[in-house]
Amino acid sequence: MSRQVSMTINGKKEVFSIGHSGARWEIPDEETLSLTLRERLNLTGTKEACGQGACGCCTVLMNNRAVPSCQILTADCDGADIVTIEGLQDPDTGELDPIQKLFIEKYAFQCGFCTPGIIMALKGLFIKNPTPSRAEVAEALSGNQCRCISQYHVLDAADALAELNAAATNA
Ligand code: FES
Ligand code: FES
Repeated sequence: MSRQVSMTINGKKEVFSIGHSGARWEIPDEETLSLTLRERLNLTGTKEACGQGACGCCTVLMNNRAVPSCQILTADCDGADIVTIEGLQDPDTGELDPIQKLFIEKYAFQCGFCTPGIIMALKGLFIKNPTPSRAEVAEALSGNQCRCISQYHVLDAADALAELNAAATNA
């Protein structure tokens, strides 16, 4: 019997077999998580650009940590909890995550290609630290590249979220 990997992706359990038959739910050992998300589950919000761990466009949350999904094999994700950009909004109301709202409010993107990865990297940071300093935000985003130079607006959005969180803590 073929080996299986099971994981939660955006709150839904997904089970794959490991193999090379080409069937939709059978994945080769060497398939990356980014490929599985995009090609098998149609979660195309996760972008793939460099494919080498250098640009951050493919960032997702794995067990609440931001990781480059092009560098992770799906076969190694057994038991993992994966969240992609599609999983950030409230599943019942469709309301966007506060980070997504602030990106819109602060115009923190241009073409938007890098944006899902940047938002997921920030989400990972804010889960650990709801009120990061600008230096901590910059450090968390050090692996995310943006060709459109929208960094200053991204930092503004992150600062605004840190301020909102600080105000909520002090209320
Ligand atoms: S596509 Fe994964 S880091 Fe660039
Ligand atoms: S907004 Fe275009 S690559 Fe970042």
